[in-house]
Amino acid sequence: MRKKMVAGNWKMHGNLAENEQLLNAIIPSLSELRANVQFAVCVPFPYLSSVQNLLQHTNIALGAQNVSQFDKGAYTGEVSVAMLNDFGCSYVIVGHSERRMLYGESNALVADKYIAAQHGKLIPILCVGETLEQREAGITEQVIQEQLRAVTEKAGVDSLSKAVIAYEPVWAIGTGKTASPQQAQDIHASIRQGIAIQSADVADELTILYGGSVKANNASELFAMPDIDGGLIGGASLIADEFIAISRALNN
Ligand code: 13P
Repeated sequence: MRKKMVAGNWKMHGNLAENEQLLNAIIPSLSELRANVQFAVCVPFPYLSSVQNLLQHTNIALGAQNVSQFDKGAYTGEVSVAMLNDFGCSYVIVGHSERRMLYGESNALVADKYIAAQHGKLIPILCVGETLEQREAGITEQVIQEQLRAVTEKAGVDSLSKAVIAYEPVWAIGTGKTASPQQAQDIHASIRQGIAIQSADVADELTILYGGSVKANNASELFAMPDIDGGLIGGASLIADEFIAISRALNN
């Protein structure tokens, strides 16, 4: 059975006190939920250690938001997979649209980061998605298939059995605009179909998250769609009641 997942992407938010307050509010509620949903929070690098401690003996996994494609070396400011392993990370987001757009990460670089993560036994959460311009030009599926192909050509389709994909339409991130459940479902189905051409088994088992203004009030209808296996949550992951409600919506 496909694994379901709710992951928070805290982006560049939080501080020691706020993080502790947030997690102390979330942990007890999530601990009551069933075991077939994976929960995770992807936190800024400086907080990995403190959040690792707070998450001990909980059902919430730890993730990072970025990683270097290199093992080690003279790469000022970068963080390696081994460093993330040191702090008990299980997940790392690769190819978030904010990194693609603001830091010029190409499909090829994202594929290298994905491969590096898997070499280090981290599960990459590979983000794909189109801009508004691309959607309006009618090339959404083409853009996403290219983003995926860059990874499967380098890493092989079987690598997706140890990865999670997040479909995040760029126009829906932080804008309050959500893809309608049907719009999201259509893209999730096309992602799964594209992968099924290479491996039906991998496609069937692949967890595909939706991200982009998921909130407590729209999570249930998104998660009801057959190819939406959970969410990658930005803003709402910083509000305990919202994150709990979204997690419950998937757990139903
Ligand atoms: P929002 O939920 O704030 O739109 O962010 C989505 C996102 O980018 C998660 O990675």
